[in-house]
Amino acid sequence: MTTIFSGIKPTGDLTLGNYLGAISRWVRVDQHRADAFFSVVDLHALTVEHEPARIRRLSRRTATLLLAAGLDPQVCALFVQSHVDEHTRLSYLLECVATDGELRRMIQYREKSARARESGEGVRFSLLSYPALMAADILAYRTDEVPVGEDQRQHVELTRDLAVRFNQRYGETFTVPRATAPPVAARVMDLQDPTGKMGKSHADGAGIVYLLDDLDTVRRKVMRAVTDSGRDVVYDRAARPGVANLLDILAACRADLAAGAGAGGGGGGSDPAALAASYDSYGALKRDVADAVVGVLRPLQERYARLAADPGAVEAVLRAGAGRARAVARPVVDAAYAAVGLLPAR
Ligand code: TYM
Repeated sequence: MTTIFSGIKPTGDLTLGNYLGAISRWVRVDQHRADAFFSVVDLHALTVEHEPARIRRLSRRTATLLLAAGLDPQVCALFVQSHVDEHTRLSYLLECVATDGELRRMIQYREKSARARESGEGVRFSLLSYPALMAADILAYRTDEVPVGEDQRQHVELTRDLAVRFNQRYGETFTVPRATAPPVAARVMDLQDPTGKMGKSHADGAGIVYLLDDLDTVRRKVMRAVTDSGRDVVYDRAARPGVANLLDILAACRADLAAGAGAGGGGGGSDPAALAASYDSYGALKRDVADAVVGVLRPLQERYARLAADPGAVEAVLRAGAGRARAVARPVVDAAYAAVGLLPAR
C-alpha cells in the first residue's frame, strides 16, 4: 500500500492557499487511497520568533481545522509532530548526511534568513537545519508520496537526495519519496499582490483569505482583489497574474465542491483556461469566485465551531494518531540508527 505523509506548520492562521494547495486533496483523495499520516509540525514553528501561548493555540486550532476540513481519524493518522520523538531522533542523522551548501541553497532559508537579518532578529540555526527535520518527518514513515503545494517542492527534492545518499552509504533503509502537487492552485497568490504567494505569516491580511475569516470579509477580500490592466478575461499566469489567480481559485474550489458532493475530483468545470472563456468582465468573475470560496468555507466553519466546542475530543484524536505514527516510525528510525553504526539501545 502507498504511504503518504504531509504536514502543516502552526505559524499562523490557515489560509485558502493551504487549503487548495494541500488540505483539500488530503481530505478528498489522499486519506482514502493510502496509509496516510498528517501532522501539525509544531517543531518547525520554532525556527522563527514565536510566542509560546500562540504556538499552543495555533497547534490546537490547526488540528481542529484539519478535522473540520474532513480528515477522518478512522482512516488516517492525525498527530502533532512533537508527540513523536522519532522525528527529532532521525533529524540528527539526516543533518549528518546533508551538507551545509545544500541547506543554504534552499529558497525558503534564503528568503526567511534575509528577513530575520533585516529585522535585526538574528537567524536561528534551526532555520538552516529545518529541511533535515522535514526530511525526517517524511522518511521516518517510508513515505512514497508527499502531497504539497509548489513552494515545498524544493524541500521534498532535498529529502529525495538525502534518502538516496543515506541508502547508498549505509544500505537500503528509506523509501525515496516524491512530491505530488494539485492540478490547479498549487501556488495560490496573494489577492493584493498576485506576484507573491498567499502566505499565513504575511503581516497584512487584505490579500489573504483565512479559513476562519467571517464570510462577509471573505467576499470583500475577493471583490477587492487586484486584477490586471486588461479588460478581457484570459488565463495567462505571466501576463495576467491577478486574473489567472482568480481563475485558479475558482477552478480549485469548484473541483473541491464537486468532490465533496460525491461527483469525483476534477469535475464541475475545474479547468481555469476553459473557465476564462465564460466571462466577459472581471466583476462577474469575482462574484463567482466569492460564491465558490464561501461555498467551500461555510460548511468547514460550521464543523469547526462544533469541534472547537469539544477540545478534549480533538486531543484524544491527536493522542491516538501519535500512537499510530510512533508504531510505524520507531522501527524505521531504529533501523537507520543501526545502519549508521550506533549500538542498539534495546
Ligand atoms: P506550510 O505550513 O507553509 O504549508 C502547508 C501546506 O500548504 C501549502 N501551501 C500552499 N499551497 C498553495 N498555495 C499557497 N499559497 C500555499 N501556501 C502554503 C504548502 O505547500 C504545504 O503543502 N515545510 C512545510 C511543512 C512540513 C512538511 C513536512 C510538509 C514540515 N514537514 C513534511 C510535507 C512533509 C511548510 O512549511 O508548509
